[in-house]
Amino acid sequence: MDGNGRWAKQQGMARVFGHRNGVKAVRETAEASAELGIEYLTLFAFSTENWNRPAMEVNALMKLLVDTLSKEVETLNENDIRLEAIGDLDKLPAKSHKALLKGIEDTKTNSRMTMILALNYSARWEIVEAARKMAIEVKEGKLDARQIEDKTFENYLTTKNYPDPELMIRTSGEQRISNYLLWQLAYTELYFTDVLWPDFRKQHLYEALIDFQSRERRFGKTSEQLA
Ligand code: FPP
Repeated sequence: MDGNGRWAKQQGMARVFGHRNGVKAVRETAEASAELGIEYLTLFAFSTENWNRPAMEVNALMKLLVDTLSKEVETLNENDIRLEAIGDLDKLPAKSHKALLKGIEDTKTNSRMTMILALNYSARWEIVEAARKMAIEVKEGKLDARQIEDKTFENYLTTKNYPDPELMIRTSGEQRISNYLLWQLAYTELYFTDVLWPDFRKQHLYEALIDFQSRERRFGKTSEQLA
């Protein structure tokens, strides 16, 4: 969800104004995704590296998260959307952590779509954590190192209960992965748009999905093998 800061700057406003308007785009994207039958929507809301931003911006983002989660649980329930989160959640400020856990608890029986917030998340953190957990289990004799395969590794990732993403959308003209779901994106289609996140609306999601539909997903095979 990139481009909030630039969007605010264009309007002569503080960066936080962009984040606040980014919430509208989150609402539209979540609603449109659920309407279309998309089962999993993951939003990169705060990266491990985002702690390095000015304290004022970090605090405002954390407050925005608490306020939004408290306000939007009703909308999530109306849309039958279950909230979940990935990342180093224990290190979030206590208030944000509490609001997040409450949002997850209050929506846990919803089943139309799962909306996963990546919070205090970075893919390298996740991969290192998985390696650490596996190493400990090997040492304790609970895991046989010779039996470790792709599938084993996946079970130690924060996304173990979710399928790999089919499409990744990055806004604001940046064409990077920026430490996001590095393992899971192996065969994901990437879509980049110049639209700044606060301007992202249903129509932009539809454009991304139409583009996605024209892609040939070969998963390493040849075109002829797919026919
Ligand atoms: C990146 O744009 C955006 C963020 C670091 C924050 C995204 C968070 C929200 C939109 C709030 C979402 C709230 C919920 C509950 C999901 P940037 O600040 O890096 O923009 P720039 O590249 O223009 O500086």
